[in-house]
Amino acid sequence: MRLAINIDHVATIREARGEFEPDPVIAAGICEISGAEGIVCHLREDRRHINDRDLRLLKETVQTKLDLEMAATDEMVKIAIETLPEIVTLVPEKRSELTTEGGLNLSGDMQRYKDVISELKAKDILVSLFIDPEPVNVDYAIELSADIIEIHTGKYSNMRTEKDKLMELSKIASIASLASEQGLIVTAGHGLNYKNIIPIANIPEIQEVSIGHSLISRAVFTGLQKAVEDMLYLIRNPS
Ligand code: PXP
Repeated sequence: MRLAINIDHVATIREARGEFEPDPVIAAGICEISGAEGIVCHLREDRRHINDRDLRLLKETVQTKLDLEMAATDEMVKIAIETLPEIVTLVPEKRSELTTEGGLNLSGDMQRYKDVISELKAKDILVSLFIDPEPVNVDYAIELSADIIEIHTGKYSNMRTEKDKLMELSKIASIASLASEQGLIVTAGHGLNYKNIIPIANIPEIQEVSIGHSLISRAVFTGLQKAVEDMLYLIRNPS
């Protein structure tokens, strides 16, 4: 399993003061030298954390692969095509949300997604769809010719009881296996942390996890390199 690190939260701290530090571009470099296999950032319409300058510099400096999370809007498609990240992850975006609250509602706008995905793929950008763990979403991802599905693990992360957690985990595992059988690359993310990662790391079809908040939070106390190494140890030694 690979670890991709979302560095938005470093930019969130910078934006709290509206100044220039801490710099998410430097964070990305430290994550990479500590073993991360991908860097993720979400350019939001309101630029509340990552901004256009960050994205431009990340594209120039990231040595592993850059995954740009974005809404399927005309503005973002234009930016993605100018920037050419290795991966675009399409996510739903609501201005008032604190973080991405759910997966894409693909059936609500199939034609729009079809157009956006074909524009991105024409530029050799791999397209990932952030979806809730429902079997129908795998059918949609195939129909849309997506390359990757990222399974939204937010609900799993928020479950309070062991029973609910196991139920959600089994939904995630069965979607992962269904999607992988159909040739999709499977990743997962949202709300994953040092306590809840092990069962996810034990699902063989999940090739990569995308982690932001818990890793950057830990880094405040332990330093970024140690936070990355601790997570890598867990995902590589899950049993
Ligand atoms: N994957 C996607 C698509 C996301 O939107 C986010 C949050 O920005 C993450 C993964 C990472 O979530 P977290 O910050 O809770 O680790």
